Amino acid sequence: MSHIGSYEERYKSFNWKQSEEELEYGKNGMYNIGYYCSDRICEKGNGKKLGLIWEGFTGEVKKYSYNDIRVYSNTIAKFLQDTGINVGDRVCLFMDKVPELYLGFIGILKMGGITQPLFSAFGEEALFTRLDDAKTKAIMIQKKHLPKVRRIKDKLPDLTKIIVIDADEAATPQINEIHFWMEKTPKVEKFDIVKVGPEVPSVIHYTSGTTGKPKGAQHAHSSIIAQYITSKWVLDLQTDDIYWCTADPGWVTGTSYGIIGPWALGVTQVVLDAGFGAEKWYAFMQKYKVSMWYSAPTAIRLLMKEGIEAVKKYDLSSLRHLASVGEPLNAEAVVWSEKAFGKMFHDTYWQTETGAMMITNYPGMKIKPGSMGKPFPGITATVLNTKTYEPITSPGMVGLIALKPGWPSMMRSYWNNKTTYDSKFKNGWYICGDRASIDNEGYFWFVGRDDDVINTAGHLVGPFEIESALLEHKAVAESAAVGKPDPVNMEVVKAFIALKPGFEPSGDMELDIMNFIRKKLSPLAMPQEIEFVPSLPKTRSGKIMRRLLRAKEWGEEIGDTSTLEND
Ligand code: WTA
Repeated sequence: MSHIGSYEERYKSFNWKQSEEELEYGKNGMYNIGYYCSDRICEKGNGKKLGLIWEGFTGEVKKYSYNDIRVYSNTIAKFLQDTGINVGDRVCLFMDKVPELYLGFIGILKMGGITQPLFSAFGEEALFTRLDDAKTKAIMIQKKHLPKVRRIKDKLPDLTKIIVIDADEAATPQINEIHFWMEKTPKVEKFDIVKVGPEVPSVIHYTSGTTGKPKGAQHAHSSIIAQYITSKWVLDLQTDDIYWCTADPGWVTGTSYGIIGPWALGVTQVVLDAGFGAEKWYAFMQKYKVSMWYSAPTAIRLLMKEGIEAVKKYDLSSLRHLASVGEPLNAEAVVWSEKAFGKMFHDTYWQTETGAMMITNYPGMKIKPGSMGKPFPGITATVLNTKTYEPITSPGMVGLIALKPGWPSMMRSYWNNKTTYDSKFKNGWYICGDRASIDNEGYFWFVGRDDDVINTAGHLVGPFEIESALLEHKAVAESAAVGKPDPVNMEVVKAFIALKPGFEPSGDMELDIMNFIRKKLSPLAMPQEIEFVPSLPKTRSGKIMRRLLRAKEWGEEIGDTSTLEND
């Protein structure tokens, strides 16, 4: 860890220019992420090195060297160009964690397209909202997810290329569908990577807010500067590492640190396209000798439930460094991980909007279990008074987490929604929407979100999206979705529902509504509990007081309800 130096030294001497130079970003006018994640690694003589080791849920294994990544992404890029996709078009990736997802991401960028990765467990309504908003032109999809798109494509006039990556050879494509098999397509050895500028849009990740539809946080190619250096310093990725990021590229962690960061560094990463299982995970890490592991608190809490005995059945001596993101990492989980793996999980805090880690625990820094750590060098972070938006100077006082804009991976806007984007800035600070305090040594301690967004198992779910979908159910008159505490997932969705006249609450009704949401939105958004109520508490102006319901679930003092009336 000595190459990292002390936190204070790094913080003082840091400037982004240095990371840019290390990455040789912009040489020969090249700013395209696609180049830095494949061709550049090959040019450095590492073409034969493995970039991706993939294991499917059936145990099938595929391996891709950096040269394979280069050539397959070229092949995809060329194919997309040939089908009429232009620079700046949005191309959605809607797949499980198959190799085409990772290689497609690079391929889209190489031809100047804007990637729009979406979690493949999304149902048709969640998918529709995001494709409609981005006016997406093409979607790369596995055949198993095709029915969802077929049901909505008539309402999506811009979506004219539905690219099925694993169609049966005999299947006949329906209108606007194209069959493409990456491995059977003639390989494209040389592709003219589109020379985009550093500010050109690269990725749009949709994220949920309290009100309105999900918003597309739009990033630029130069985000790679931040993803590269944080992967190097915080994930501490080194040449011989075998790196495992458990996140799905449908979410920002899975792209910033499951594709861009590690590949910009030329590291070997492993991907497991299978669901969670404690022993499955341990066996996977043992098999591939994983040395750096980036995961999430819910997964750690699930592992804790299986006990240390399960860990001890496996040889995990290859593990060198562990980090976590997405939700508060409780102190017990940090202490447990040290007992179980001989290493502490290093918590990192950031958001879809920030594109890269903002507040982190660095290797070499003293870890205070339960704290998110300190701002990454190059990042100015503070907590602000909730009324004046002035930085709070007294240690331990809770305020709004705020960041000084200007780091390379900051979103450039919300897609087609400048008003909401602008509303995130106050007094020259970007407001994250979370509350925290800072102790007398500069460590940040997470307190909670400052809005009604539900964080379930590290995934953000917007109450508005759930409530809108609930209203489409024939029996629902009105509803409110709130987060309810859960020992493993931190929060799960609970819905309060008033039924229309003629409908009666029952167990069957509850199941029917739950399934309705699971199918339309996703398993994450599905209420784990439904409470039928005669009516919902409202403000004088008729808005549902979601916070009142939430406070009850958390056993919080509600106090004067008039303060809730503005929500
Ligand atoms: C929460 C994920 C506590 C927070 C990269 C943030 C955290 C939201 C942490 C972003 C952490 C993320 N401790 N809470 N270490 N990391 N969060 O956009 O509320 O999916 O605003 O990005 O997750 O979630 P998002």
